[in-house]
Amino acid sequence: MNAPLLDVSGLTLDLPGAHGYVPILTGLDLQVRPGEAVGIVGESGSGKSMTLRCIARLAPEGARIGGSITVGGRDVSTLKRSALRDYRRRETAVIFQDPRSAINPIQRVGDFLIETARDAGADVPAARRAAVDMLSRMGIVDPERRMGQFPFELSGGLLQRVMIASVLLSGPSLILADEPTTALDVTTQSDVLAISEELRRDSGTALVFVTHDLDLALSICDRVVVLYAGTVLELADAETIRHAPAHPYTRGLLASRPPLDERLAELPVIDGAPISAADAGGGCPFLERCPSRIPLCEKTKPKLQAFRGGQVRCHRAEELATVGSAS
Ligand SMILES: Nc1ncnc2c1ncn2[C@@H]1O[C@H](COP(=O)(O)OP(=O)(O)OP(=O)(O)O)[C@@H](O)[C@H]1O
Ligand SMILES: [Mg+2]
Repeated sequence: MNAPLLDVSGLTLDLPGAHGYVPILTGLDLQVRPGEAVGIVGESGSGKSMTLRCIARLAPEGARIGGSITVGGRDVSTLKRSALRDYRRRETAVIFQDPRSAINPIQRVGDFLIETARDAGADVPAARRAAVDMLSRMGIVDPERRMGQFPFELSGGLLQRVMIASVLLSGPSLILADEPTTALDVTTQSDVLAISEELRRDSGTALVFVTHDLDLALSICDRVVVLYAGTVLELADAETIRHAPAHPYTRGLLASRPPLDERLAELPVIDGAPISAADAGGGCPFLERCPSRIPLCEKTKPKLQAFRGGQVRCHRAEELATVGSAS
């Protein structure tokens, strides 16, 4: 089996708050091999974006980061200026939730894309052709005209397609995508995902795909990490998560998906609201919302343990799986 391209081990993140440091991530392990797509799924505030930002060396000011992150065997925390620039421009590429926060507002779309393609080694005419070609592959009509426009002249969805085009032009070995398709219509969404699939197959590009949409993650990712309050509750291949989820939270997420054909049906929801890592006590972070909790869950935080080919953080995983398969 290939060595991991991305190796995150024991990642912790604390951010400065009004009364000292606040825990955000509590010890995350993640390995992604070349060509693999791994989804990070969780509700709002679970730490998905912060995980990506740590990997991209874009954590907020004052962040205290523990554990280690290596990409291609290099420790990301030790990269100095020019190595960091290369790391961000060539090795990894981030697609942000909000494309406007990540693009230079006073640079024409075409200049931005040509610069990206040139960074990847193309001469100017080839970079221009590649940029136009990539825009049309992204489903952008009249790409020549778009090349001459500024970001403010484009809608959010169109701008996100430009950002994704730039990522694909830069040919990174690792794409970090943060809810990249939320602003896209369904057709473009599937085009974009097909291109990223092609890239993974042909160039061995790896993908870390952050989303709150478990179905979407399961449809494009080989493996999925379920994050809750900055803590991994389950990690398994997509098939296992879909057909034999081991954690009560994962089961709840699967059960609360909107039905495709009954839009007005009453949805089962997971009781209660998500908490942050700072609000988790000494026990299981999912305790308050868990339909299967027992007294032990209040006292002791379960360890992430190997379970049926994946990993799960639940005291009752074995027992609940037996009950589930018997019923
Ligand atoms: N700059 C910051 N300073 C302090 N805390 C922050 C900062 N940014 C985010 N947080 C906190 O970190 C936690 C994780 O945030 P993060 O943005 O990673 O969540 P997320 O899973 O990406 O959520 P969403 O689905 O809403 O994008 C949240 O509790 C959030 O309030
Ligand atoms: Mg986020």
